[in-house]
Parts: sequence; C-alpha cells; structure tokens
Amino acid sequence: MILVFLGPPGAGKGTQAQRVANKYVLAHISTGDMLRKEVREGTELGQKARAIMDAGELVSDEIILAMVKNRLSEPDCKNGALFDGFPRTHAQAEALSAFANVDLAVNIDVPSHRIVERMSQRRFCPACGCTTRVKEIISGACPKCGKPVIQRDDDKEATVLNRLEVYEAQTKPLIEFYERAGKLLTVDGDRDVGAVFESVVHALDGLA
Ligand code: AP5
Repeated sequence: MILVFLGPPGAGKGTQAQRVANKYVLAHISTGDMLRKEVREGTELGQKARAIMDAGELVSDEIILAMVKNRLSEPDCKNGALFDGFPRTHAQAEALSAFANVDLAVNIDVPSHRIVERMSQRRFCPACGCTTRVKEIISGACPKCGKPVIQRDDDKEATVLNRLEVYEAQTKPLIEFYERAGKLLTVDGDRDVGAVFESVVHALDGLA
C-alpha cells in the first residue's frame, strides 16, 4: 500500500502518519524529518537545505526526488510506504506516479487560524527528533528522551505565515491532482487526534 498525506503545515500529517504507519506496518517517510536529520548531521545536503527550510520555502524537487527514491529502496518499504509532506509540488506528484502507484491521498483539512495557534504550541527535540506540545513538557525536557526541546526556527509566526503561502501556491493544487485521479480522501483535521485517526482508518479498511 502506498499512501500520501497532504495538508497545510501543522495540519497533523506527522501525528497521524506515525499512527497509521504503525497500524498498517508501512514505512513512514517524512521528507521534513529526513531533511532535519541532514541539517542536524551537518551534511552537504543539510547545509544547502537549512536556509531554505528556515525561510519556509521548498527544497528543490531534484534533491527531494533523489532522497525519496533512495529511501524507497530500503527493506522496510517492502510492505508499502506512507509519505508525509511529499509530494509538495506538481513535479514531485508526477514523478511519484512514475515510480509508485499511490492507493490513497489523505488530505487533512485544518483552517489557517488553527495552524498558527498549533505551531506556536509545538516543540521539537533535536536529540530524538520527536514533536510535542508545550502543555506536555515539564522543565523544558523532551517527554521521550529527557533532552532539552526547542521551537523549530520555521515554527516562528512570520515563517509559518510564509509556509502557508507556499502551501497555497504550490501544494494545495495537488488536492485536485489526486481528486481527478479518484484517489482523494479529505478528513476534517480540526478534531481531536483520535477522531481524525478513526476517519482515516475507516477509509483505509474500506480499501482492502
Ligand atoms: P515538514 O516537516 O514536512 O513541515 P510541514 O508540512 O510544514 O508539516 P509540519 O511537520 O510542520 O506539520 P504536520 O502537518 O506534520 O503537523 P504535526 O503532526 O507536527 O517540512 C519542513 C520543511 O522541509 C518545509 O517547509 C520545506 O522547506 C522542507 N520540505 C519538506 N518536504 C519537502 C518536499 N517534499 N519538497 C520540498 N521541500 C520540502 O502537528 C502540528 C502540531 O499540532 C503538533 O504540535 C501536534 O502535536 C499538534 N496536533 C496534531 N494534530 C492535532 C489535533 N488533531 N488537534 C490539536 N493539535 C494537534
């Protein structure tokens, strides 16, 4: 099974993707997480990507496609994969169709004002890569590994607003791309995490 999770920044793609990938034993492929790992490790790719990500712009299709193709050849993708934050441009979506058959694109729909609010509450652990909410943090420590959490540079309000503009211009048109292919599921993401998950599971169980 190949799934794509679409939605604006902060819609809850990563939150849902992790749960769905666990349930259906799919490789969770988050291009954002992969890029952040490159930045943390100071690789050449990470150095190129850092300023682009901090500004809320998109990394080039060429870099992303090379990274994704490489990742798909790893053994954990045998049973299928769930793409979180990929594709993000028309060129990426066309390229993905050429090397994999997407079963369903899940569009997590959340209004912009809720996004800005959610991002201001999100914290990131550079040590283990997990994401958490301010209210779940005690003394600035990651609830999973205990190391200090930070706010992602691209979660500052001005950058979030730019990411939303980039999403509207370059990624939102992919909703129509998958709708035309008869592969779109839109779920209301402005509900609690469990309710959003149930909607996705209901649709996926119907695919079998
Ligand atoms: P990426 O990491 O993919 O960022 P994004 O798409 O902007 O998505 P986020 O990770 O910010 O949010 P999310 O939808 O996963 O939400 P989350 O579950 O964390 O990309 C970062 C950057 O990398 C891009 O800007 C770009 O530069 C580059 N990049 C990545 N992929 C690329 C590509 N394919 N092409 C080119 N460039 C690329 O949830 C957000 C918050 O809300 C959390 O705090 C969470 O706890 C909370 N939350 C989640 N669900 C709920 C709920 N139902 N109710 C209340 N709160 C909730």
